[in-house]
Amino acid sequence: MTIQTVTDAIRYVGVDDNTLALFENQYPVQPMGVSYNSYVILDEKIAVMDSVDARAAEEWLSNVARVLEGRSPDYLVVTHMEPDHSGSLMRLAQKYPEMKIVGNAKTFTMIKQFFGTGAFSEDRLLEVGERDTLSLGLHRLRFLLAPMVHWPEVMAAYEEEEKILFSADAFGRFGSLERTARAPWAPQARRYYYNIVGKYGAQVQALLKKISALEIKTICPLHGPMLTEDLGEYLRLYDLWSQWKPEKPEGILIAHASIHGNTAYASEALKSKLEGKGAQVTMCDLTATDLSYAVTSAFYCGKLVLACSTYDGGLFPPMKAFLDHLQTKGFRNRRIGLMENGSWAPAAARLMRAELEKMKELRLCETDVSLRGALNQTSEAQMDALVAELCAE
Ligand SMILES: Cc1cc2nc3c(=O)[nH]c(=O)nc-3n(C[C@H](O)[C@H](O)[C@H](O)COP(=O)(O)O)c2cc1C
Ligand SMILES: [Fe+2]
Ligand SMILES: [Fe+2]
Repeated sequence: MTIQTVTDAIRYVGVDDNTLALFENQYPVQPMGVSYNSYVILDEKIAVMDSVDARAAEEWLSNVARVLEGRSPDYLVVTHMEPDHSGSLMRLAQKYPEMKIVGNAKTFTMIKQFFGTGAFSEDRLLEVGERDTLSLGLHRLRFLLAPMVHWPEVMAAYEEEEKILFSADAFGRFGSLERTARAPWAPQARRYYYNIVGKYGAQVQALLKKISALEIKTICPLHGPMLTEDLGEYLRLYDLWSQWKPEKPEGILIAHASIHGNTAYASEALKSKLEGKGAQVTMCDLTATDLSYAVTSAFYCGKLVLACSTYDGGLFPPMKAFLDHLQTKGFRNRRIGLMENGSWAPAAARLMRAELEKMKELRLCETDVSLRGALNQTSEAQMDALVAELCAE
């Protein structure tokens, strides 16, 4: 990735990773890739904003050196200690022994955990707290603590001169800068948000409240593009997402997990019936869709139908995994319909209900569709009743 100019004094020195298969060993990032962002502020003093994943160390160090043109950085600001941003921290610290590490009290606890208590002498650690400032000359960083968005030590930094918010992982998205230069921000930002930050909606709300008082011209996150336009729209979406509000309240997602195909077939039949009533329906085959996408689709819609075969007296595993992931990410505030299948002793509806009871503010439809292997007249009638309930609200 070539070095980019954010403003005259601020350069992007991050690195694209187009070969990683799974981000956090869990979320597929092919073919879009991912970027580990880092920035340099050039002033009387020089600050490097975050490091990158160890996979990208060499390219990053070379980018930083090119921008420095022989000078040495005074500070490395650590807004987030997760290894995708701290994996190369020691490399820079060793290369520039005069450089101080800027973080908050929790950052330094974590630095000692990752790199050992003796990794840095105390005089190399510059501790900052809420609303503290660090002057670089014309530029001045103001720190805003953002605990648990989505790690304990996270903080944002607002550069007052150019009105730039360094937002840590907030407002980040999957997709390397090179491969997704023209891609819209929201689809992969939404997937990043719900899967990685999603559980911590209350903490994101607290951060949004803090930054609402600031005039922001640019948001520089730790993944994905720097945001200069449509900031109001991105803030609006973050506000919605962090309150677990659906983006499409009337939209219905049917998520199905079928062993031999009958439950999938019945899901298609349900879709036709719903569409016949004018509903907007999206399908998700849980046996063929990565969980991170399925979860994102569920958060997007206001209504969710879960359709599942019974499997050894339990739920077919793709459905169980889906419900577990939804629960972990704080899924709530949705209208839910259930469809089960079981050739001899269907139990899936009862078991899905038990899983849903662990989540908040869900409004379950009264009718469950219960299939005995395949669709029959009884289950058709149940389906019609479910359609009526889903379309009534
Ligand atoms: C390994 C396995 C375990 C199953 N366990 C049950 C069960 O415990 N109770 C039941 O009623 N049906 C059970 N079934 C039948 C499925 O629920 C059956 O496949 C389903 O009713 C048909 O829908 P499908 O084509 O969508 O899978 C099982 C099927 C398989 C292959
Ligand atoms: Fe992170
Ligand atoms: Fe990250």
